[in-house]
Amino acid sequence: MHSRIVALLLATALLLAGCAAARSGELGTATTALDTPVATRGAQAARPFLTIAHRGASGSAPEHTIASYDLALELGADYIEQDLQQTSDGVLVALHDETLDRTGRGSAENCTGLVRTKTLAQIKTCDVGSWFNDTYPRYARPEYAGLRIPTLEEVFQRYGDRANYYIETKSPERADRMEERLVALLDRYGLRAPSIVRRQVLIQSFSPASLRRVHALDPALPLVQLFYGEETSRTIQAGLAQVADYAVGIGPSKDAVDAALVAAARTRCLDLHPYTVNERPEMQRLIALGVDGMFTNFPRELNEIAGRASGPAATPARAATTPAACQRRR
Ligand code: G3P
Ligand code: CA
Repeated sequence: MHSRIVALLLATALLLAGCAAARSGELGTATTALDTPVATRGAQAARPFLTIAHRGASGSAPEHTIASYDLALELGADYIEQDLQQTSDGVLVALHDETLDRTGRGSAENCTGLVRTKTLAQIKTCDVGSWFNDTYPRYARPEYAGLRIPTLEEVFQRYGDRANYYIETKSPERADRMEERLVALLDRYGLRAPSIVRRQVLIQSFSPASLRRVHALDPALPLVQLFYGEETSRTIQAGLAQVADYAVGIGPSKDAVDAALVAAARTRCLDLHPYTVNERPEMQRLIALGVDGMFTNFPRELNEIAGRASGPAATPARAATTPAACQRRR
């Protein structure tokens, strides 16, 4: 009898052990998780999804104007994007194109041709709102007519630490010391430290040389390498090891993003912010793939699709942070 009881206890113990093993197999996600790249675990735990207002809320207001940035923040964007051009007298201004022709209205002398051949005083005479009213009557507003090109300094003066900035060096090889001027402005407005700590400013460029120049000035500043539309998931993946030497993220065209690119970026501890995503199905596809945020002309719509309430942006709190696991790897 005694031996039967012992046998029964042993069988029960074995059964319980088996169940425990089976459970640990399920959790194992515990085990499996430890085998996955650290970036993935960190990302799942800590990285917020970012709505990046491309040229401001440029679907509904003239791009790169204070009106466009104001609207973006009102609609709950986490970052407002500035494309940088540089005037002949060395001032950084927020404008996408190298020339004034598409969005500038005013005298031909001041408001056509290359920005880098004009002084700030010249380009300040140009109206960069009327073209929008003419092109997009649905979104036109009388107050957009006459809007001016903002300098980066004016943008910092207006929003200070109440906004996050996603700043692109445009045509940096044709601008004298653009990167130095940018970093000096960050210092003047107390934005360097918060950029390092919580990514209040992200600096992006299609030019690896420009990003490397910023990196040489301060290796802790967070940088994002952009990729042109011709690049595919495969060609981008091939260069990620080099990019990870100086950048914290990549900005591919939306069409290049697939599961393999998302996984490769995670493995390298690189955030992934595709551009420029304005259609709802495309937003949904990219969110499902697990991107970390995206550039859009329509921040309200992206916030809706991402399941976030639109409202005044709680910007500093929602700035990106580097997951602890990735910090340790850097
Ligand atoms: O910076 C991301 C995206 O804006 C790149 O395209 O031409 O709009 O500057 P572009
Ligand atoms: Ca840009």
